[in-house]
Amino acid sequence: MSDAFTSQHQVCIAGTGSYLPEKVLTNADLEKLVETSDEWIFSRTGIRERRIAAEGEYTSHMASKAGAKALEQAGIAADDIELIIVATITPDTLTPATACYVQQQLGAPGAVAFDISAACSGFLYAMKIAKRLISDGAFSNALIIGAEKLSSFINWDDRTTCVLFGDGAGAAVLRRAAPEEGSIIATEMGTDGKLTHLLNIPGGGSACPITIDNAGMNLASLSMMGKEVFKHAVNRMKESAEKVIERAGLKPEDIKLVVPHQANLRIIDAIADRLSVPHERVFVNLQKYGNTSAAAVAIALDEANRAGLIQRGEHVVLVVFGAGLTWAAAAVRW
Ligand code: ACO
Repeated sequence: MSDAFTSQHQVCIAGTGSYLPEKVLTNADLEKLVETSDEWIFSRTGIRERRIAAEGEYTSHMASKAGAKALEQAGIAADDIELIIVATITPDTLTPATACYVQQQLGAPGAVAFDISAACSGFLYAMKIAKRLISDGAFSNALIIGAEKLSSFINWDDRTTCVLFGDGAGAAVLRRAAPEEGSIIATEMGTDGKLTHLLNIPGGGSACPITIDNAGMNLASLSMMGKEVFKHAVNRMKESAEKVIERAGLKPEDIKLVVPHQANLRIIDAIADRLSVPHERVFVNLQKYGNTSAAAVAIALDEANRAGLIQRGEHVVLVVFGAGLTWAAAAVRW
């Protein structure tokens, strides 16, 4: 599904924010939990450490903290926010939506609030939904958040997954833009439901409730066929990034920064090469946080923004990939 910008109102990113829990879990710490090594983890993924939420710190708490920072940067009071979308695969509860807790925690009683589940692609799915609802005139602004507490859905005995993931949240405020302001120029998203088996959390849903009989089987933990996922990730991210670059009328040299999903440095390098974008114009922070799923691209965008790597009028391309399989991209004039 795709669109070039044709609607009534332009939509800009007015502010970004992120939050990472304090606790750091290093590769050396993981060497004590499973049979692995810093050398294996770093050379295969680029990850050195990740953050782990504190006891009693939930996805909604991290989402609210990231959201509050984005609101502050956008200069919009929580009271004035009209829409909150939280992208997560690790909600506080199956129902109500994590976005409802966030609405309460932020003090945003006027906001319509709901979650979407698109794994690592969720933040850009939320961006497209919010952009459309604002450009159509249904809302004048929105707070979109990617937030995950993956540490609650990891089998800490499984070395093929436990070294990859971390916790955190990132957010952006979208609002109607004046003609001279930046805008989200083009978006793209896609899904391949034939590949649900490559990456999933099999238990805890209606297909496989957790019962006394299966409680010890780690069914509510993330399971992944890494090599297969890797191949699809490179191809789909490249294709979707190319589509938004073309639709936005950009050439590789016009792109100030590519902000990709932060899962694996080898995937990111392969995409940079295929898009002919120099590696120094591709933002990477996965060495610090690992893969935080829906939060990853949002945290990366906030860090790049706050570091001054994207200035007004410059172009940034966001591109993501995750379970589903799902993928998405966006071209933004800052
Ligand atoms: N430490 C040491 N050895 C390990 C570890 C570990 N932590 N994990 C696996 N190994 C071993 C394997 O057992 C295997 O051993 P064998 O050859 O004796 O069988 C060997 O290392 C190679 O394993 P592979 O899985 O083939 O390693 P690969 O090079 O494919 O790297 C990885 C694995 C890092 C997971 C990679 O495939 C990857 O990044 N895939 C993509 C992940 C991704 O992009 N996910 C996106 C979305 S996530 C979401 O949506 C929530």
